[in-house]
Amino acid sequence: MTEKTIPVHADHEDDPVCMSRRQFLLAGGAMVTLAAIGLPGEAEAAPMHALKASYSRTKIASLSALKKGMPVEFAYPYPNVQNILVKLGTKAGGGVGPTMDVVAFNQQCPHMGGPLQGTYKDAYQALGPCPLHLTTFDLTRHGMVISGHATESLPQIVLEVQGDDIYAVGVQGLVYGYSAMTAKRA
Ligand code: FES
Repeated sequence: MTEKTIPVHADHEDDPVCMSRRQFLLAGGAMVTLAAIGLPGEAEAAPMHALKASYSRTKIASLSALKKGMPVEFAYPYPNVQNILVKLGTKAGGGVGPTMDVVAFNQQCPHMGGPLQGTYKDAYQALGPCPLHLTTFDLTRHGMVISGHATESLPQIVLEVQGDDIYAVGVQGLVYGYSAMTAKRA
């Protein structure tokens, strides 16, 4: 019986399938450069839009009744989906009202559904930390994660204003526990 010898330090420079360490590093560098400067012809690329699900237009509050830093709770788009409406006092992404500082977010943590009720911190315009794994969300920046285990932003309730009335018209992001943006609880 003949024994096969397996080379310990194989040189894959000419192997079309395997990459040598040098080739890997060069290819990685080229990808980083392309990511930084963009691909040729990419300058006119269409802008990206966040996914948004539309639901029935529902009045949730009045502008004149809101006080800065005093959150109001409301259910939308279903009775068991609890959200927070707050006047931040700072212009915010998705904000409505004369100073674009009124925003609304779902109150269930997108990580594993931890309850965020009562965790609004007006000093930072942040919601959290989540009692389960301590994620905190920035309400001035579409609910993006400041710190913690969650990897997705807090679902933002899309608002519109007509006169003094504030309406919820949709949800940007997927509410925890729902299998699709327009589906009922899974
Ligand atoms: S459930 Fe909120 S951080 Fe994990």
